[in-house]
Amino acid sequence: MGTVSLKIGDGTARFKRATLCSSALNVLMLFSVLTTNLFALYAFTSSSSSSSSNTNQSVQHHIIDHKNISFISEQVSLILKEIDLSQKKLSQMEKEVLGYENIDISKPNVANELKLFLQHHLLPLGKDSKTGITEMVASVGHSCEKSVDLLSQYMNYKIGGSCPDDWSLAQKLILRGCEPLPRRRCFAKSIPKVGLLPFPISLWKPISDKIVTWSGLGCKNFACLNSKQIGKDCVACFDLVNGTEKYRFVKAKSKNDFLIDDVLALGSGGIRIGLDIGGGSGTFAARMAEKNVTVVTPTLNVDAPFNEFIAARGIFPMFFSLDQRFPFYDNVFDLVHAVNQLGDGGRQEKMEFLMFDVDRVLRAGGLLWLDNFHCIDEEKKTTLTRLIEQFGYKKLKWVVGEKIDASGKPQVYLSAVLQKPVRVKSS
Ligand SMILES: *[C@@H]1O[C@H](CO)[C@@H](O)[C@H](O)[C@H]1NC(C)=O
Ligand SMILES: *[C@@H]1O[C@H](CO)[C@@H](O)[C@H](O)[C@H]1NC(C)=O
Ligand SMILES: *[C@@H]1O[C@H](CO)[C@@H](O)[C@H](O)[C@H]1NC(C)=O
Ligand SMILES: *[C@@H]1O[C@H](CO)[C@@H](O)[C@H](O)[C@H]1NC(C)=O
Repeated sequence: MGTVSLKIGDGTARFKRATLCSSALNVLMLFSVLTTNLFALYAFTSSSSSSSSNTNQSVQHHIIDHKNISFISEQVSLILKEIDLSQKKLSQMEKEVLGYENIDISKPNVANELKLFLQHHLLPLGKDSKTGITEMVASVGHSCEKSVDLLSQYMNYKIGGSCPDDWSLAQKLILRGCEPLPRRRCFAKSIPKVGLLPFPISLWKPISDKIVTWSGLGCKNFACLNSKQIGKDCVACFDLVNGTEKYRFVKAKSKNDFLIDDVLALGSGGIRIGLDIGGGSGTFAARMAEKNVTVVTPTLNVDAPFNEFIAARGIFPMFFSLDQRFPFYDNVFDLVHAVNQLGDGGRQEKMEFLMFDVDRVLRAGGLLWLDNFHCIDEEKKTTLTRLIEQFGYKKLKWVVGEKIDASGKPQVYLSAVLQKPVRVKSS
């Protein structure tokens, strides 16, 4: 078993279908390509030998044979080209049938653990009659292929021992699209979480510097983080006592800031679970927890230990990038809250992929809360507006405001609460 299959899509284990029939199909197709071409060649040569019988035999025959031999060799090379092309098409078809891209683990430098992890495993009881699946395939992101060296480094550890302190290597891989990462057989560094407080007191008490890993980070404590701007939306966002964090969603600084009570009222009591995109240190989820609404906060640890901080507050962090399909089923959330992530920078298509995925996980009647979306200019705002309107949501709130940025330029901000419509199937 020399090849290894990589998944495309979400993070669950993948399965490989029986390929017996597709191989048989390939052989059949190759055979038919060959026979068709050989038959054409035969027809061509036999007709040429019968038509030269009367006139000036010797010379003409000679000339014609000569001409036709080169003609024939031309034909043969054309046929060979066609066969070659067919073979390429067939192997492409086979790849498509399998649904995998392949990573070459026969290369030197590929860590043995990676090979082992990726090895296919036959189902112990043979082919599954319902699904036709014959083997289980472990999955890693298909973009891991671009970073095989880093991936091998990541998979290089002592089995059963302590994992290297390399969470930032893991995050680097994820940021390069290598997601999901392979599992490892080593113990992650563990930190005594001394002084975790009971819920809901945990939501607003400062988190001790000691219960967080600081390796690979510029700052080594929360005071340092609070003196800096971390990313776009985290200004002193780890300060739960003195900063502005504790006023968010309960006191408005501008007309673009909606209050949690107002938004929940729009959901007429049906808001129980939600997803927060661009959730910073988890304050949205914390405020929602106070209203008995469970919100998950996807976040990486870019420049700060967001995941540990959020978890210490007693809310739910999820470590994955927003570049992959959300690992949630369709129509499950009552609420999606999004800060900035759709409107900024990125190409229009990227925005659309994200917006469609948000739409997918939100249930009909659920609320999409766009919170202070930054649109660099009017044009960007128009594009975003058009994109949103395409989805046919009901605009429960819609506020466009301007704020003056540090350099004195006015910036456009959009805040909205939108309700997902019930869509009847359009054929
Ligand atoms: C040789 O090929 C020409 C066409 O290129 C054809 O017209 C002719 O009949 C062929 N002659 C023989 C002897 O096959
Ligand atoms: C055949 O061609 C040769 C050389 O071109 C010529 O000498 C001869 O007369 C021709 N014969 C006939 C039957 O056309
Ligand atoms: C909040 O401010 C007070 C008074 O300035 C200070 O003593 C305290 O350490 C601050 N708390 C945090 C968590 O920064
Ligand atoms: C949340 O749930 C608890 C326990 O059921 C209840 O006592 C409390 O009033 C609820 N809070 C809100 C804001 O609904």
